[in-house]
Amino acid sequence: MYTRHDDLANFIRIAQRLFQAQALPAAARQLAVKVFERIEQPSDDGRRNSQRYPACDLLDSALAPLLDDPSDLGAAARAIKSLEASIGWQRRTSGSNGSDDYVAKHVHGMICGPGGMESRYDVQLGFSLLAPLTRYPDHRHPPEEAYVLLSAGEFWQGNGHWFDPGIGAGLHNPPNSPHAMRSGTTPLFAIWCLLV
Ligand SMILES: [Fe+2]
Repeated sequence: MYTRHDDLANFIRIAQRLFQAQALPAAARQLAVKVFERIEQPSDDGRRNSQRYPACDLLDSALAPLLDDPSDLGAAARAIKSLEASIGWQRRTSGSNGSDDYVAKHVHGMICGPGGMESRYDVQLGFSLLAPLTRYPDHRHPPEEAYVLLSAGEFWQGNGHWFDPGIGAGLHNPPNSPHAMRSGTTPLFAIWCLLV
């Protein structure tokens, strides 16, 4: 039988609190309540993605500004670092308007979800990491999703307008709504969750 590792349980508790911050839109907080209800039940089919990608090497520089932070943002950064060896990495290779080199300059870390540390199909909890000056392609997907930012970063939600929610704040993408993100001169790091 699968037993959840304490480091993962710790990260989940911290992420659950981050997704209830008042700085998030109400729809993001409401989605997160449902996601974390499901995550309470550990589940793993053992099909973790084993490949690492070049952008994984940006993890330390992306998290460095938060490692000494006494808030939950710092706790989240330290918890993610503790999970690094068990994260399931993946990349997007389709979509429009991405910067020329976006494939090499981004990576997603799946923690709970398909191919992740806890590989499962009912929820997704993980993060996106973009190298500086990277524009991730426009895309959409049926599950709605919520983000919490651990860095600076800009987001687009189909209306031509880019905005930076701010560290510790976030956004909500309704089902099938087009969206994208881009980094400035520092790496973009954002935790997301989806209800599948
Ligand atoms: Fe998305």
